[in-house]
Amino acid sequence: MYWRRTMRRVKSWILAGSAVTPRPVYEARRRLLQAGAGLVVGSLLPVRSRAVAPAGGVFANAPRGGFGTDEALTPHEFVTGYNNFYEFGTDKADPAAHAHSLRPRPWQVVIDGAVASPLTLDIDEFLKPQQLEERIYRLRCVEGWSMVIPWIGLPLADVLRRVEPLGSAKYVEFTTLHDPEQMPGQRRDVLPWPYVEGLRLDEAMHPLSFLAVGVYGDLLPNQNGAPLRLVVPWKYGFKSVKSIVRIRFTEQQPKTAWNVVAPREYGFYANVNPAVDHPRWSQARERRLGEGLFTARRPTLPFNGYAEEVASLYSDMDLSRDY
Ligand code: MTE
Repeated sequence: MYWRRTMRRVKSWILAGSAVTPRPVYEARRRLLQAGAGLVVGSLLPVRSRAVAPAGGVFANAPRGGFGTDEALTPHEFVTGYNNFYEFGTDKADPAAHAHSLRPRPWQVVIDGAVASPLTLDIDEFLKPQQLEERIYRLRCVEGWSMVIPWIGLPLADVLRRVEPLGSAKYVEFTTLHDPEQMPGQRRDVLPWPYVEGLRLDEAMHPLSFLAVGVYGDLLPNQNGAPLRLVVPWKYGFKSVKSIVRIRFTEQQPKTAWNVVAPREYGFYANVNPAVDHPRWSQARERRLGEGLFTARRPTLPFNGYAEEVASLYSDMDLSRDY
């Protein structure tokens, strides 16, 4: 009953999210038109792209880490204005409009479960500059759009090793803050709260898996998952859980939010895969946010372009079944 009700709502939101022109796209287009660029030229032009960290950003000098891409960065206004964060509403503009109620300080993260040395870390532990680097990653959302985002953060494995996982640990579960006062969207039963995501242990330990504390050279804005969020660039964006308060090693596969709500649509693995359609739409192509409106959708790459690094993790699996 619960998921039937939710499914109906999820359906309309997702269609609403992917079928209409994204708000930052039309706002940017309107600005161009107002600037007198002219209808034809204006709507063909990509919106302004900022390719460097903002001057004065607290992490402006973070070294560039590996796994880079020379693709154009998605403009800051899309990265911070077109978001999925259902704790603040289901519209793409809701998180930027409402996430001011989240208090990312003080903040602690519990790391426990099947480990020899559980830890509770203050957020300042994650913010020490000497361990931080910038990683430019593609993010592909299951809804058919993508971005190229300059994150600041640290390899997830560096944090996980500190608690000495036991041999019995097979998965890692990540949990978002549960506090309807700070996150008013949690008063509605649109998802099972708190939002939970999970990775297999080898995925979590993979050098691409990243914990972000910043974006575009500065601290994460609340709408992007302040103060700490996961980034797993070869998986659909819903795996990248925001505002994490707990990281738990488990023996059983974690029950993850979208997989619980609609298991046929959102698998546990959620590897980006152009060959496996979502039950209601193709995953073969994607729209890069910030590009001109008439720019053709680009082909989606297996594992979001990171196949060389991660395909071997799945060599014995049928990815059309374990989607
Ligand atoms: N984490 C929480 N806690 N709640 C959410 O609704 N949405 C996910 C993911 N992490 C979500 C979340 C989805 S569907 C996507 S596509 C990404 O966050 C979006 O990240 P962004 O808004 O920073 O681009």
